[in-house]
Amino acid sequence: MAAIDHPSFGSLDPNRVIIFDTTLRDGEQSPGFSMNLDEKLRMAEALAELGADVLEAGFPIASAGDFDSVRAIAAAVKGPVICGLARSAPGDILRAAEAVRPAERRRIHTFISTSPLHMKHKLRMEPDAVLEAVTASVTLARQHTDDVEWSAEDGSRTEPDFLARCVEAAIKAGATTINIPDTVGYALPEDMARIFTDIRTRVPGAERVILSTHNHNDLGLAVANTLAAIAAGARQVECTINGIGERAGNASLEEAVMAMRTRQDRIGMATGIHTPGILRISKLLATITGFDVQPNKAIVGRNAFAHESGIHQDGMLKHAGTYEIMTPESVGWTKTNLVMGKHSGRAAFRDKLRALGYGEIGDNQLNDAFRRFKDLADRKKTVYDEDIVALVDDEVMRDHQRIRFVSLDVHAGSRGPARAELELEIDGELRQAGASGDGPVDATFKAIRSLFPHEATLALFSVGAVTEGTDAQARTTVRLEEGGKMVDGQGADTDTIVASARAYLHALNKLLVKRARTAPAAMSA
Ligand code: KIV
Ligand code: ZN
Repeated sequence: MAAIDHPSFGSLDPNRVIIFDTTLRDGEQSPGFSMNLDEKLRMAEALAELGADVLEAGFPIASAGDFDSVRAIAAAVKGPVICGLARSAPGDILRAAEAVRPAERRRIHTFISTSPLHMKHKLRMEPDAVLEAVTASVTLARQHTDDVEWSAEDGSRTEPDFLARCVEAAIKAGATTINIPDTVGYALPEDMARIFTDIRTRVPGAERVILSTHNHNDLGLAVANTLAAIAAGARQVECTINGIGERAGNASLEEAVMAMRTRQDRIGMATGIHTPGILRISKLLATITGFDVQPNKAIVGRNAFAHESGIHQDGMLKHAGTYEIMTPESVGWTKTNLVMGKHSGRAAFRDKLRALGYGEIGDNQLNDAFRRFKDLADRKKTVYDEDIVALVDDEVMRDHQRIRFVSLDVHAGSRGPARAELELEIDGELRQAGASGDGPVDATFKAIRSLFPHEATLALFSVGAVTEGTDAQARTTVRLEEGGKMVDGQGADTDTIVASARAYLHALNKLLVKRARTAPAAMSA
C-alpha cells in the first residue's frame, strides 16, 4: 500500500494504524456508563496522554450535555483530532460542526444505515434516497471541516454492490475516512477480509482515503475482526478502553493495540499508543463508571499476569518468556507496587502521584488526598499503588461538590436496629443527623436522606475490594434514579459503610448537576 495524504495526519505511513477511541461516545452511550462533563474531560485528557489519534467525544445532537462535553473537550484537549458524531440530517451535522469548532484538528463523523434490513425497517428509505443522503451529508460536513468520516451503519450486513456505491459516493463528496462497522457484532473474520478487499479493489478513490473498522463484540469476535480488517487494508481502528460499548461492547483498545505490538512479526503495524499508560487509563475508567473489568480480562484484568499453578510458577522463575508473551510493565503493571507508609511525607506523596500519572492535581486536592492517605496508612498495614489511585480518584471526583462527607459513626450488630450518626457539609454549612435502619448501610442512607431530602430511589448498590486482605479498601457503587435519569456514584474507604456513604453522596451530587442543567430553578433538594 502507498502512503495516504490525509488532512489531519499529512502523509500517513502505510504501516501506521490510526487509533480512533470512541469510549466517550459508543462506550458512554451504553447503560450504566454515562459520565458527566468533568469525568469526560478527565478521560479525554488521559486518552490524549495515552496517544490516541482521534477522540470521538460524543454525539452533539443527542443532548445539551453531549454538546457541551464535545465542545469542552474540543476547547481543552490538545493532541488528538476531536470528532463529533452526526446522523445524515443537516441539523445533526451543523450541531456536530459547532461542537468541534474550537479544536485545533477536528472531524465530523456522519453515518447512515445501508443494510436492506435497516433501510427498510429503521430508516424506511429506498436505497436511492440513502445514496443521495450520503452525498448530501458528506458535502455539508466538508463545508465545515476538511476531515470528514463517513460510516455505513450495519455495513457488514450490507449488499456488497450497494456498499461499494455508497462508499464511492462518500469519497466523491469528500470523505477522507470510510468506516465499515459491524454494528451488530455478526461478522466473522473472513467477512471482514472480503469486505475490505472488495472495497479496496473495486471502489475508485479507495486508495486515497483511510479505511476504518468498527466492531461490536456480540460474538466475542470484535478484536479478531479488527485484525482481519487490518490485514485486508483497514488503517483506522475504532475501539474503546476496557471494550465498553453498546450491548457486548466494542473492540477493546488495549487488546487490539497489544495484539499489534506483540505480534508485530505477523501484523507488521505500529500505533502511536504509549502502552505503559494502558493499565492506568483502564483503572481510571473503572473508577469513573464503577464497573471493574473481570479478573481474567486480557491485558488489564487482575489475573492477566498472575501465575498460580506450580508448573507455571516454576517456568516463570526459570524464564519469564515461558508463560508471558508480553511484559506486565509494557502495559503498566509495576513489579513492586508496595508504596509508602505512615512516615512518608507530602513530597514523597506528590512524587508517587506523578509516577502514577497525576501530574496536574491541584493543591487543594493534593492536601485532601494526603490527609486521607495518612489516615489510610494509620489504619491499613500495607498501602499499595491501587489504594492510592482509588483514594485520589475519589478525591478528584469530589471536587466542586455541594454535599460533602465529614464524619460517620455507626452502631451495628446482631442485636437490634443499626444506628448511624452522620455529619455532612452542605453548601458550606455543617449539619448532623442520626437515623436507624435495617443494617448500617440502610441507616446511613436514611441519615443522608434526612439531612438532604430528595425523591431519588436507590437502583443499585454494589461493593468490591480495591486490593486483597481484610484491611483492603472497599470500592462501592451507588446508582440513583430520579424521573428517568440515572446516575452512578463511587466511593472508596477501608470502612465499607464510609465508602457506601461517599458513593451515595457522589451520586447525589451528580444528580444535582443533572437537575440544574435541565431545570435551573430546581436546585434545592
Ligand atoms: O456501531 C455502529 O454502527 C456505530 C456507528 C454510529 C459508527 O457506532
Ligand atoms: Zn458502534
